[in-house]
Amino acid sequence: MKKIIGVIACGLFLNAAAASSQVTDKEKVQMEKRIEKLIKKMTLEEKVGLLHGNSKFYVAGVERLGIPEWSLSDGPHGVRAEINRHDWAYAGWTNDSASYFPTGTAFAAAWNPELAYRRGEVLGEEARWRKKDVLLGPGVNIIRSPLCGRNFEYMSEDPYMNSVLAVAYIKGLQSRDVACSVKHFAVNNQETNRTTVDVECSERALREIYLPAFKAAVQEGGALTVMAAYNKFRGEFCAENNYLVRKILRNEWGFDGVYVTDWGAAHSTVPSMEAGLDLEMGTLIDKYEDWYYANPLIEAVKSGKVPMSLVDEKVGDVLRVMIKTNVLDPKKRFGPGSMNTKEHQQATYDAAAEAIVLLKNQNNLLPLDFSSIKSLAVIGDNATRKHSNGGLSSEIKAVYEVTPLGALRAKWGDKVDIRFAQGYEKLSTFVEGSNNGQSSGTFSSKTQESDALLKEAVEVARTSDVALLVCGLNHDYDTESFDRLNMDIPYGQVELIQEVVKANPRTIVVMIAGSPLNMAAVDICSPAIVWAWFNGMEGGNALVDVLSGKVNPSGKMPFTTPVSLDQSPAHALGNFPGRDLKVNYEEDILVGYRWFDTKGLPVVYPFGYGLSYTTFDYSNLNTDKETYDQADTIQATFTLTNTGDREGAEVAQLYVSDPVCSVMRPVKELKGFKKVFLKPGESRRITLDIPVSSLAFYSEAQSQFVVEPGEFILQLGASASDIKQKISVEVK
Ligand code: BGC
Repeated sequence: MKKIIGVIACGLFLNAAAASSQVTDKEKVQMEKRIEKLIKKMTLEEKVGLLHGNSKFYVAGVERLGIPEWSLSDGPHGVRAEINRHDWAYAGWTNDSASYFPTGTAFAAAWNPELAYRRGEVLGEEARWRKKDVLLGPGVNIIRSPLCGRNFEYMSEDPYMNSVLAVAYIKGLQSRDVACSVKHFAVNNQETNRTTVDVECSERALREIYLPAFKAAVQEGGALTVMAAYNKFRGEFCAENNYLVRKILRNEWGFDGVYVTDWGAAHSTVPSMEAGLDLEMGTLIDKYEDWYYANPLIEAVKSGKVPMSLVDEKVGDVLRVMIKTNVLDPKKRFGPGSMNTKEHQQATYDAAAEAIVLLKNQNNLLPLDFSSIKSLAVIGDNATRKHSNGGLSSEIKAVYEVTPLGALRAKWGDKVDIRFAQGYEKLSTFVEGSNNGQSSGTFSSKTQESDALLKEAVEVARTSDVALLVCGLNHDYDTESFDRLNMDIPYGQVELIQEVVKANPRTIVVMIAGSPLNMAAVDICSPAIVWAWFNGMEGGNALVDVLSGKVNPSGKMPFTTPVSLDQSPAHALGNFPGRDLKVNYEEDILVGYRWFDTKGLPVVYPFGYGLSYTTFDYSNLNTDKETYDQADTIQATFTLTNTGDREGAEVAQLYVSDPVCSVMRPVKELKGFKKVFLKPGESRRITLDIPVSSLAFYSEAQSQFVVEPGEFILQLGASASDIKQKISVEVK
């Protein structure tokens, strides 16, 4: 048994100063003086004007003091097209197209912080070009249920992974003087009743699972704004949640940027002011002057319910972010911006190419030698469907979007006879370009037309050398505002896949989706499966290059694909999406692979899983010491060798277990990873740094993170279920 209880400072990331990393101490003093001076010159009405929207995505400035109107925009995978100032229709501009990046889960599947940083830079350059000061994203909520409609927009089921990628993205974005808005703070893990549901979870689950990415975003990434979730947490709306905002975000993490509501998430004046909300956006009250942070706030100050110092605190937060992003400096504001340059296109291509996951490859059916085949059947609605303008607030008016069929025709159309068959009915209710919300029906009823389409597809497959099925979901399913009803693959696609494989054993299945699906039946019958995501405007090109072998796939799944929905944690315990507008996260810290591992449940595709056209060998795992102090960093070093005959990249993952602990711990938890590119036959020694502090659990008894001395086992693997090497270390 471990005897002494060691205590470390709160949290996994201790770089508290980084929140103001862009600003030196001297600049900080000057900045605070400048803020103070400006505030002194403002009337109450001018101050209040800075704390609420004057239209859908703008906040009024104070012209006479050189404070311009502040300009915000969605979203995490591209700069959203211009919305009308006073309603949700698109403004109809002709110059508001933007680059479209792979969506959240695709972004995570690349497991590459360098790409995340690059993505941030490009988004920043395009936001600048579009004259936006704040780009709303990234979304860092944990994938708790396979059904959450916004899984595609978030990243993974692991807090460490979300933290690393969010920090890189934010640093890239803010390096272009565009503020991020990390969202949705906090415990926003479902769309069902998202504006009313009251979430309860243990303090430990909150600290270990749901908050780390926000904390890292603020403390390591220097996130300049944070967006309040719609839901309640422990009885209080997130926008006015004293515990989450005043205590944790402000006091514990030292956040001095802008805490902004989600659009329409404000519910009060005084409690919100006290809790630490700075900016009210999107409230569903007709006149802006009637919003909580408009006339009611002026009244509250006049009647003494809100002290002026609190108003000044909020105005200070807004001005601070403005100063840090050059909003108050007309010569520097909005420069340098650029839109859809060759470099931007390359960044979206690289992001897409590294995101694609090879799930199965029997008899090395892939890569496909296109020069040796005469005909290719391409089947499925997703072969031709564009996804950029779906999903609701993250939808993009993409400058272009290359579909799989488009890319196949462009790259191989002159050598191979490419025959398209629709395969199933295009039963979408989603009107492309509208943002009225989508439906989440199952569309499974068969019609005469679907029978005919199935027959046609089977015939085309039977008479072609190779068949390529491009299946999955679309933004009828993976969307903001709704959760899916089940994990089924809709539109009769499973039967289609089974029949096509029977007709042509050389069938490759491509799944385009942003969240887990019932893959067991597809996995059993299909020889080759590729997961290709909502993969941005270059998604089609990246997919075809993976199929042809020009690109060796290196993506790995950022979530577990369970055998069935009822085995996944929230559903096994019957607490998704909750009852009577309350949801209790009873699975506690056992989210994602932590649950499946700890319960010993088999899965279809584990977290971190993905194949390559080459093979890798892991060897000689060792650590720089055997025994560590609490303040140390463990250096775990291993050799990774490309044992195949192709260049490729492997995502090596380091999990840690704490076999003897005074509280239950998951079987293992991800604490480090690295994507390594190796030439055929090449070997490299790789070192991962694991701070001992990151081995902590959150002790509810002590209200802080604690590392209990004793043995920890480092487990190095190719996925959460494929551990190659283990080594023990001792912590004092
Ligand atoms: C979404 C946010 C988004 C905002 C503005 C809300 O419905 O939840 O993520 O940024 O709208 O469009």
